[in-house]
Amino acid sequence: MKSFREFTTLVTGDREKRANHHTLLSVVMPRPIAFVSTISASGVPNLAPFSFFNGVGSNPMAVIFSPCTKADGTSKDTIVNLRAVPECVVNVVPYSIREAMNEASYPFAPEVNEFEAAGFTPLPSRFVGPPRVAESPAHMECKLIQIVPVGNGPLSANICICEVLCFHIASDVCLPDGTANVAMMDLVGRLGGEDYSTIRDRFSLPKPSPRPEQRTQK
Ligand SMILES: Cc1cc2nc3c(=O)[nH]c(=O)nc-3n(C[C@H](O)[C@H](O)[C@H](O)COP(=O)(O)O)c2cc1C
Repeated sequence: MKSFREFTTLVTGDREKRANHHTLLSVVMPRPIAFVSTISASGVPNLAPFSFFNGVGSNPMAVIFSPCTKADGTSKDTIVNLRAVPECVVNVVPYSIREAMNEASYPFAPEVNEFEAAGFTPLPSRFVGPPRVAESPAHMECKLIQIVPVGNGPLSANICICEVLCFHIASDVCLPDGTANVAMMDLVGRLGGEDYSTIRDRFSLPKPSPRPEQRTQK
């Protein structure tokens, strides 16, 4: 019989919380990366990657990502901006921009234009104020629906629920049916620590077909 080590998350110390944070990141993976652009109340563009990210529904088209509260208990610029201007663009991250994306994760001061600081080209959006990232092959213009805080204090989540208003898919990766070519996009995912994955290796699994005893569908 396989044995398991147990790490309870019902702990109060910051050290254990940080250690458990790393355990979470090492088991919930690979995570897609939302490269989120926002603008401040005074119009400064901001760019930051978030791998607590996913698509969660299509009616309305919805994505979520979570900028956690910082170790000192303050909010990341992305959250401050979204509270002031409830719009963003979620850009995807191909292998070709991995280093500049990482650079954009540096905690720059709020008055720094992170497109300039990390070397990205802003493209105007159609429905929202924050610009798109020209170097990314797919962009989702989003309207913030709600920020749901989960807990409070350092590392607590702030789940940003957003409605996707518009997709932009680069012509060279866009298939005739409006989906993106997975191989050509060459996106990266986040693993634990400083590690990332590519999706260059893939396999397919057809949907399960009913067995002779006919599974009942719920
Ligand atoms: C690949 C990657 C994924 C990240 N994912 C998250 C995340 O899901 N949540 C989070 O709070 N920080 C995450 N970070 C750290 C933020 O990007 C970083 O704190 C950034 O400075 C926040 O920027 P802002 O203050 O401009 O919002 C991630 C960093 C990298 C490089």
